[in-house]
Amino acid sequence: MKRWKSKAALSVLFCLGTVVSAVGLASDAKSAGDIKPGYGNKQQSAEAQAIMANPDVTVDSRGVRTLQDYIVQEKELFDFLFENHPVFKYAEAGRLKGTYKVSDRGEEYLHGGDSQKYSQHQEGNRPMALQYRLGAKSILDFPNKFVGPEKCGECHGPQYEKWKRSRHSKTLRFPGNHPEVENDIEKTMYGTKDTSILPDGITPDAIYATVGTPRTKYGFIDGYLVRGTYHIRDGLLKDGTGTMVAGGNQFSRGWAEWLTPEMAKKIQKVVPNFPTTMEEFGASGSHQWGMSSYGAKYEKEFLFQPASSYCEMCHSFKFDFKTKEEFFAALGNPKELQKHTVSLGITCEECHGAGGHLDGGIGGGMPSNCERCHQRFNFVEELAQTPQGKEKLEYAFNVKMKSSCPSCGTEGSQMFASAHYDKGMRCSTCHDPHEVTDGDWKSGITKPKLVKECTDCHAAQAEIANNTKTHGKQTCQSCHMPNMGSCENFTAIQVPDLAGFDNVRKSHMWKIDVDPLRKTLNPPEGKSRDSSTKGWTVAKDEQGHNYLDLMWTCARTSVSDHDVVENKGCHSQFQSELPAGLHFKDQMEIYGKVQKWQKPVKETFAQVEEALARIDKSMSKAKLSTEDKAQVLMFTDKAEEVIKLIRDDGSWGAHGARYSLKRLDAALTYVTQAQAIIDAKGLSAKKA
Ligand code: HEC
Ligand code: HEC
Ligand code: HEC
Ligand code: HEC
Ligand code: HEC
Ligand code: HEC
Ligand code: HEC
Repeated sequence: MKRWKSKAALSVLFCLGTVVSAVGLASDAKSAGDIKPGYGNKQQSAEAQAIMANPDVTVDSRGVRTLQDYIVQEKELFDFLFENHPVFKYAEAGRLKGTYKVSDRGEEYLHGGDSQKYSQHQEGNRPMALQYRLGAKSILDFPNKFVGPEKCGECHGPQYEKWKRSRHSKTLRFPGNHPEVENDIEKTMYGTKDTSILPDGITPDAIYATVGTPRTKYGFIDGYLVRGTYHIRDGLLKDGTGTMVAGGNQFSRGWAEWLTPEMAKKIQKVVPNFPTTMEEFGASGSHQWGMSSYGAKYEKEFLFQPASSYCEMCHSFKFDFKTKEEFFAALGNPKELQKHTVSLGITCEECHGAGGHLDGGIGGGMPSNCERCHQRFNFVEELAQTPQGKEKLEYAFNVKMKSSCPSCGTEGSQMFASAHYDKGMRCSTCHDPHEVTDGDWKSGITKPKLVKECTDCHAAQAEIANNTKTHGKQTCQSCHMPNMGSCENFTAIQVPDLAGFDNVRKSHMWKIDVDPLRKTLNPPEGKSRDSSTKGWTVAKDEQGHNYLDLMWTCARTSVSDHDVVENKGCHSQFQSELPAGLHFKDQMEIYGKVQKWQKPVKETFAQVEEALARIDKSMSKAKLSTEDKAQVLMFTDKAEEVIKLIRDDGSWGAHGARYSLKRLDAALTYVTQAQAIIDAKGLSAKKA
């Protein structure tokens, strides 16, 4: 049992109060006899236990590790943590407010994304992980072959420099590497008085790393490599003093900086149940404005989840420990863990394989690999039961949601149901894989480095957009990529029908559906559209593609959406600086405006098309002189050109109503002229 050094220092502080806590926890964990594994007790999840009881592993038989091996691999870590982690010491001392819920790879992979329902579609109910994919190597591999990005950089300066500037290299940082707060991570920021990157009672010397940048939010990974889902009241984690409290663990920018009590009150005038006090925020709230509860319900419940089960899959890091024993000896000692870190963040080897092509490396070729971390799915049984789902089960793959909005990190699952994906485009068709973010990583917005712009492929749309004043200054993304992704389960402040408040990442659906009623985000059939309803999904159109409704396109409210901020708040009724008549309150109103553009464009288009067809028919019958024929063809060619432009554009005036109409009017003149030439010869076919 004592294979690894036990963390004696902490144990001493905790020897009192053991009895109290046992009672306290038992009452929390439902009733006796109905013990849920891991819910206030030192057991792994039911999913992990089921796999371990009856494993179908391959690492022993084939030397290759598959999903179930990953789940089994975590057991030793849990044995160690159950014995040593402060959470259990606080619990045993009766100084824990809220119940811990063990979350391991079994729970996260097999439960997450409704993967269990997906499993039921497999023979023998085979466990499947739909929401996540694991990295080839994890922190529990000893030794691993990572050499670190600096080593790759020795010969690959261009890629290294670009990568180093991007958020991929900044997502995990050790205390002291925080220029945004002059390296003092206990300092307040985002204009708040009492909130900082680290929550109460968590000191820099008690954590391994922070997660995040000034972009949206910060989390932390503690000295035992467990995600920080708690804070300490009236004490310090490093000393084992005070009370450990569920939640109040994550510093969120939007909330601190923008969704101030004043703004909340303003919104409440329109959305009567919008929360204006901490209490009203419910489970996601905390004791400080700006500090939210993530992976936790404030004061009630929190996940006990080592990074190996979750964070490190995407916010990755690797150590140079040669053996398990070395690793466990360092666990609980942040300085030691930091010293042995060879790779921090999304480094070269996460994409190109440990050691890359170097002699002795595992090689990795050139996988785009973005999907591993940016494509979270959710399985939706109702979709599986539709005719499309019965024909192709992947039709039931939807976007992982955070309450009623797509989760952040779901760019890939959104794109999976798009025309772009169908045409073979992938993330790196548009994105630079090394310089994923362009510009200052400390900025509150993201400007990704693109290797292809929309207009490189969409010439017709570009032409019309370049000739319009109405939206000439906006980019294609302004309408086609609204902020829709939410990083949190902030149910109370998500109002999808009003498009916004907690939406911090650009959607990757692109298609806009011009319809008075159809909505992008929907609760299950027949359920209330209140954001507290469970089971929201992203709608699919007749082609099986995701689409954006007009509220998200034109009238969203998001402070971290640079398109909204830089464009006078667009048409958001809460942010817009445009004349009041341009503050859109509902979808029907927007639909009306779009129709005003589209109707005349569509009508004139139909007229020209009809005339062209008529001319085409009569041309064969008409006995025209060569000169007249040339004239007619010149006119019809010009009209065809306009027709092609308008058809290729496909927005029917949304990209530039006046210009579209101007071109169509010209086309109408051309066909009228052509028809006149034919008519003059008295040979035209009579109008149908
Ligand atoms: C000792 C020098 C050296 C080091 C160190 C090095 N490489 Fe390379 N690498 C090369 C050379 C040479 C090439 C081939 C020419 C080129 O693309 O520059 C190459 C090519 C590549 C390619 C392109 C392969 C292809 O199929 O076109 C990738 C990707 C790559 N390296 C990744 C890495 C990674 C990841 C590391 C760190 C684990 C690394 N390299 C370390 C020298 C090095
Ligand atoms: C499945 C992959 C995945 C996992 C697992 C994951 N994240 Fe993330 N996380 C992302 C992606 C991707 C983003 C960037 C947002 C986007 O692309 O939409 C992100 C963004 C963040 C941000 C905001 C960063 C910023 O600069 O604004 C924080 C903080 C964060 N994650 C913390 C965590 C923590 C803590 C964990 C573990 C409890 C975790 N994440 C687990 C993929 C993941
Ligand atoms: C997020 C994944 C990812 C990371 C991190 C990453 N690469 Fe790449 N790398 C790619 C992809 C994808 C390509 C292929 C690009 C293409 O085909 O357009 C690539 C291409 C390359 C190439 C071929 C030349 C080129 O620029 O296309 C080299 C060399 C390379 N990477 C080295 C590195 C080094 C060194 C690092 C770390 C400093 C690194 N990569 C980090 C995904 C990544
Ligand atoms: C190992 C996991 C992983 C892989 C692989 C990965 N990413 Fe990321 N990516 C993340 C995480 C985590 C973040 C959030 C970083 C942060 O802001 O703290 C992120 C951030 C980003 C951002 C910036 C988001 C923002 O809001 O600033 C872009 C753009 C991005 N990734 C694109 C890509 C592309 C393109 C690829 C593939 C070439 C890729 N990523 C591969 C995990 C990954
Ligand atoms: C058709 C081109 C295109 C494709 C394909 C594409 N993206 Fe993007 N992506 C963009 C553009 C453009 C933006 C920036 C929008 C803006 O802010 O102007 C962006 C933004 C992002 C961001 C930053 C989001 C934010 O708001 O912080 C991430 C992360 C990202 N993309 C990841 C991905 C991933 C992962 C894939 C593949 C699954 C992908 N993208 C595919 C064009 C694309
Ligand atoms: C590499 C070329 C390429 C780039 C870059 C590109 N697209 Fe596309 N786009 C396509 C192709 C190909 C299609 C499918 C056309 C078809 O099927 O007729 C498409 C289709 C679309 C559609 C229609 C979707 C549907 O479901 O019918 C929209 C909207 C769109 N693109 C918007 C954008 C926007 C906005 C950007 C920039 C963020 C962009 N595209 C970047 C090639 C591209
Ligand atoms: C002012 C908002 C707005 C801007 C800016 C905008 N679009 Fe659109 N776009 C729309 C709307 C609305 C539609 C849907 C029209 C419909 O389907 O009736 C659309 C449709 C499209 C389509 C789909 C056509 C089809 O065949 O279904 C493509 C492709 C497209 N836009 C590309 C672009 C590109 C590229 C740009 C930048 C040059 C751009 N859009 C700028 C609003 C916009």
